[in-house]
Amino acid sequence: MTRSSPITLRVNGTDHALRPDHRVTLLDALRDHLGLTGAKKGCDHGQCGACTVLLDGRRAYSCLLLAVAQDGAEVTTVEGLAETEVGADLQRAFVERDAFQCGFCTPGQLCSAVGALAEADNEPDGPAVLTDGEIRERLSGNLCRCGAYPAIVRAVRDVAG
Ligand code: FES
Ligand code: FES
Repeated sequence: MTRSSPITLRVNGTDHALRPDHRVTLLDALRDHLGLTGAKKGCDHGQCGACTVLLDGRRAYSCLLLAVAQDGAEVTTVEGLAETEVGADLQRAFVERDAFQCGFCTPGQLCSAVGALAEADNEPDGPAVLTDGEIRERLSGNLCRCGAYPAIVRAVRDVAG
């Protein structure tokens, strides 16, 4: 027997009432129930980062989360990033730095970069200085099979700097 429960998700500033089957992931709820296909399904196992979104302001692999457990959460997907200053700056920097080839990883890279910059700003000892090595480390959960890493680091550095 399958079970479902009513939840409300606030996605990119809009409330959505859903009744997902308890087995549905947040990623599938976004893509299949809300039509937000920006977050990508790469591995579906928490290994590639293509599904990264911001959950209550923190980056998260949406393929590893059950939608039903996110009742009341605030979710930002790549579709909503342009509404924030840093998200818009990162999108512009990715274009200017040519920080992608196929683009499959890019929504996750962008969401992860927004989260990483916020984390760096809020370190307990004060804002962290993001060297290229530090940017690589903080974005290491987002793989790019096209190998666009050098340009991704340059784009994030532009905004971090
Ligand atoms: S699809 Fe979620 S980490 Fe790969
Ligand atoms: S641009 Fe193709 S996977 Fe990153």
